[in-house]
Amino acid sequence: MNILGIDTSCDETAAAVVMDGKKIHSNIISSQINLHQKYGGVVPELASRKHVESINYIVDQAMTEADIAFENLGAIAVTNRPGLIGALLVGVAAAKSLAYAYELPLLGINHIEGHIYANFMVHECLPFPHVCLTVSGGHTLLVEVRAGWSYKILGGTLDDAAGEAYDKVAQYLGLGFPGGPIIDEFANKGNPAAIAFPRPMLDSDNYHFSFSGIKTAVRYFAEKSKASGTLPPIQDVAASFQAAVVDVLVQKTICAAKETNAKGITLTGGVAANSQLRQSMSEAATELGVKVYFPPSNLCTDNGAMIAGVAYHQYQEGLRDGFELNASASGSIL
Ligand code: KG4
Ligand code: ZN
Repeated sequence: MNILGIDTSCDETAAAVVMDGKKIHSNIISSQINLHQKYGGVVPELASRKHVESINYIVDQAMTEADIAFENLGAIAVTNRPGLIGALLVGVAAAKSLAYAYELPLLGINHIEGHIYANFMVHECLPFPHVCLTVSGGHTLLVEVRAGWSYKILGGTLDDAAGEAYDKVAQYLGLGFPGGPIIDEFANKGNPAAIAFPRPMLDSDNYHFSFSGIKTAVRYFAEKSKASGTLPPIQDVAASFQAAVVDVLVQKTICAAKETNAKGITLTGGVAANSQLRQSMSEAATELGVKVYFPPSNLCTDNGAMIAGVAYHQYQEGLRDGFELNASASGSIL
């Protein structure tokens, strides 16, 4: 069965056609990076307006590339939670219109569940239970994933998401937007031990995170050292910041994997594309005797394929939504 999956939860207008929850016929992603770049972060109202402009073209492109007529789809799936409310509403309205016009079943999907599912699309036989770290611009969440699509939330961020910290730090250092890939590149040429930035909540006896302290520490450090003319090479600042973030993410995930007797670890979300995070997590997991799985970059960041994938399984379980389906800025996967 082919499902059209739509995601407009943040700053990507995305649509994909996926067969039986796995085979990706098309996966079109239109990024709004250029629009938000000068503000150093996503401006919600601008994001919504851009989604309105793009959605029909992106859906058309996804259908054309998949070479499938709307009449031959089995369902329409759309991210309806959590995310930027105005942005979500555009995708939900588009999905409802298509489902109504072509008399297709409609399914509203949780964006985080989509990110968790991304690894299932590319890895055969992921072991259960496993621990999934979802790290993006909007979320930092540690979840135990059990057989039968059941989840237990182990912890999450108490303030900023990891990706948000990357984006803000890049802004303080004048490096551009989105900060993650830029800092990743600078960090690879710098010394991670140059500056000892804090590792908040590393010693706490829970699986929660806090990134706003690291972000502020980099900001004060940059301001002070610039004023005194002692700013070290930007590569060293980037590497030291990245080391602090990665240390916390890796250590907490490994502890969670140990405590839950996880058979594997999955990484997902935009920050899961980070080279240091992938490397450090893989090394630590090898020591623990488990494997780390991550999706390719185009399935790490926001996309419609992961939404169509989750929808396929929910459809099999008999889940459907009516035209009263609404968007919600918040929403737990449980
Ligand atoms: O999953 P995503 O596309 O959107 C949200 O749901 O938020 O994630 C975007 C986030 C941005 O904060 C971006 O800076 C970060 O992912 N990101 C990275 C890397 N590539 C993207 N962070 C660290 N290293 C990267 N290589
Ligand atoms: Zn996302």
